[in-house]
Amino acid sequence: MLALASKIARGFRSSARTLDKIEIFIDGSPISVEPSLSILQACEKAGVTIPHFCFHERLAVAGNCRMCLVEVENMPKPIASCAMPVSKGMRINTQSEKTFNARGGVMEFLLANHPLDCPICDQGGECDLQDQSVLYGYRQGRFLEYKRAVEDKELGPLISTIMTRCIHCTRCVRFSEEVAGSPVLGTTGRGRETEVGTYIEKLVTSELSGNLVDLCPVGALTNAPYAFTARPWELRYIHSYDVQDSITPPITVNTRGPEVMRILPRIHEEVNEEWIHDRTRHSFDGLKRQRINACLRKTSDGDFQEVTWQDAIEMLADEINKHTGEEMVGYIGEHMDVESITAFRDLMYRLGCENIEARKHTIKTSPDFRANYLMNSKIIGLEETDCILVVGSNLRIESPVLNSRIRRQVVHADVPVGVIGSSEQLTYEFSHLGNSANTLKEIIAGNHPFSKKLEKAQLPMVIVSAHTLQREDGEGIMALVHELAEKYNFIQEEENWNGINVLHHSVGSIGALELGISSHFNPDLKPKFVYLLGADNFHPEEIPDDAFVVYQGTHGDEGAYRADLILPGAAFTEKSATYVNTDGRAVLGKVCVSPPGQGRADWEILRALSEVLGQTLPYDNLQEVRYRVAELAPHLIKYDYLEPYNVINWITKPAKKEVNGTVLSDFIDNFYMTDAISRASPVMAKCTSVFGPERNQNFVPEVPRR
Ligand code: SF4
Ligand code: SF4
Ligand code: FES
Repeated sequence: MLALASKIARGFRSSARTLDKIEIFIDGSPISVEPSLSILQACEKAGVTIPHFCFHERLAVAGNCRMCLVEVENMPKPIASCAMPVSKGMRINTQSEKTFNARGGVMEFLLANHPLDCPICDQGGECDLQDQSVLYGYRQGRFLEYKRAVEDKELGPLISTIMTRCIHCTRCVRFSEEVAGSPVLGTTGRGRETEVGTYIEKLVTSELSGNLVDLCPVGALTNAPYAFTARPWELRYIHSYDVQDSITPPITVNTRGPEVMRILPRIHEEVNEEWIHDRTRHSFDGLKRQRINACLRKTSDGDFQEVTWQDAIEMLADEINKHTGEEMVGYIGEHMDVESITAFRDLMYRLGCENIEARKHTIKTSPDFRANYLMNSKIIGLEETDCILVVGSNLRIESPVLNSRIRRQVVHADVPVGVIGSSEQLTYEFSHLGNSANTLKEIIAGNHPFSKKLEKAQLPMVIVSAHTLQREDGEGIMALVHELAEKYNFIQEEENWNGINVLHHSVGSIGALELGISSHFNPDLKPKFVYLLGADNFHPEEIPDDAFVVYQGTHGDEGAYRADLILPGAAFTEKSATYVNTDGRAVLGKVCVSPPGQGRADWEILRALSEVLGQTLPYDNLQEVRYRVAELAPHLIKYDYLEPYNVINWITKPAKKEVNGTVLSDFIDNFYMTDAISRASPVMAKCTSVFGPERNQNFVPEVPRR
């Protein structure tokens, strides 16, 4: 199914293989289903709900809660429907007395040891056990024994445990082993003494650990930073997208009044399945701290003084009028949205400035064709590939959700993964091929053991970190990647397959590339005026001391520290804005809360500035800005859609250049703090102190590893 979705996503005509269906009877009604389904899945297909706890469609079947029991004709006992495949002519009864008695009995057993904690339980109101006991449980139990008590476990700063509530469904155990690849949880003891824990005391060190809380059907594992802060019925549920991860996973932002209270994942098969990483989930408390909520001007003694919007914009216009376009430089921040980049680009071009840059260092690839800088085989293409080469990226840190998809391919499809760079241990078996771009040359020459695997592969893919392309020798590395692609058939017209993939770290960079922003600064340029549009991850040494710096953004981070004038912008939860993910998929973020203080959406600030400068931008509202975006790049207003593009012929082959042979080191040294939001987050600070940046620090493994 996923492979098919992948082909459709890449513009294929569907050639679905039809499976022979079989007829079964659910509560007397006939239905045709695939023979590979379990009874539970077949019932769900027929619209019949079967209560369950341990079953989860993305995890292996455990069959240990027994809540899904149903009566099947000619079977002496009720059957666990999640673990029994359908067979031809099977007659299933989900509404019989026998079925109801079986469910009631299981529920009675589960509640025999379950504490009566609901009023003080964080799961209250969204608890599967609560809901199902109301629907399927008896009015009272017959157990008079004392309830057992289980010691809580220490799993780290993100997960609180109250293990007396555990119903031993083992979803957490299976997730940590199968998806996260960090098998720290397991069960000990038998019967009434069964406990879920970590055997020896150990923290859950996975970057995906927050998903354990979502999976736990009861309040045994709960979200520690959110504990006792809100009840589900007090919250608003707003569907938006995360921009701290370049795959832009869909999220639900829970708000109460003006505050973001919680972030949860939504399901998207082609993007995140249903997982998000811990920075996406927990760093939102950084949205409330170190915020810039007023216009600030630097005084002669180095302090900042609050000024009105009018004064700030007039002061800025006066400063801009002192300079020519060539003396100006604009940096676009990593979370900047397409609308604001469009307004920024339009304004800077009107002022005669073409020195606009969206990356810490120029990414050494051309924005002329989308195939030059996107993931051409798409995230979903990971389901199809049979060989993966990773260049200069530690995927576990750079993109943990994408990494979990690769893990599944390695574990279930035995897909070989080769890594060139200084990656530390990944969550699956991989071959460490070398540390520098010289290894690419060896593979191209056919002298490397991994060459054989690439030769055999039908649909190979290479994932190159955008950070790697920002190196001095980025162009040379990309040229080698193209040479490799040519030699080993990475681009196949008949399959519409282009296996060259750039993995971005920042949605701001992708948005800028989509809008054709490609300035390559003259290295000798000494700007006199610098406009930092939400840019915090820039190189301060590139800005001369005497340059006037304006920072328009959200946090008192690197940019604000260097600024002479600060304008309060809006964070991604505070504006309706378009972002583009590393696949080239445009998504629409929603307004969840208002910006604090005087904060405004960034395009509005630029529009106001343009008017004072006498260069009025031709749009007055968001809709008109989006018309302008559509003029520049029509696909950016087609949301959650992968606009097909020519991945085969429309690609710029970089000119061959020297590579310097230095280590392709990981660029992220601390997974928990990568941007202004996460650097301001107390929860992320706690994770950094508990798990330590050491865990993520670069190291150079020996070659070969295996
Ligand atoms: Fe109540 Fe559910 Fe919490 Fe148990 S886990 S105490 S049933 S809310
Ligand atoms: Fe299931 Fe939660 Fe217990 Fe884990 S802790 S086994 S997810 S009930
Ligand atoms: Fe079937 Fe748990 S859902 S045994």
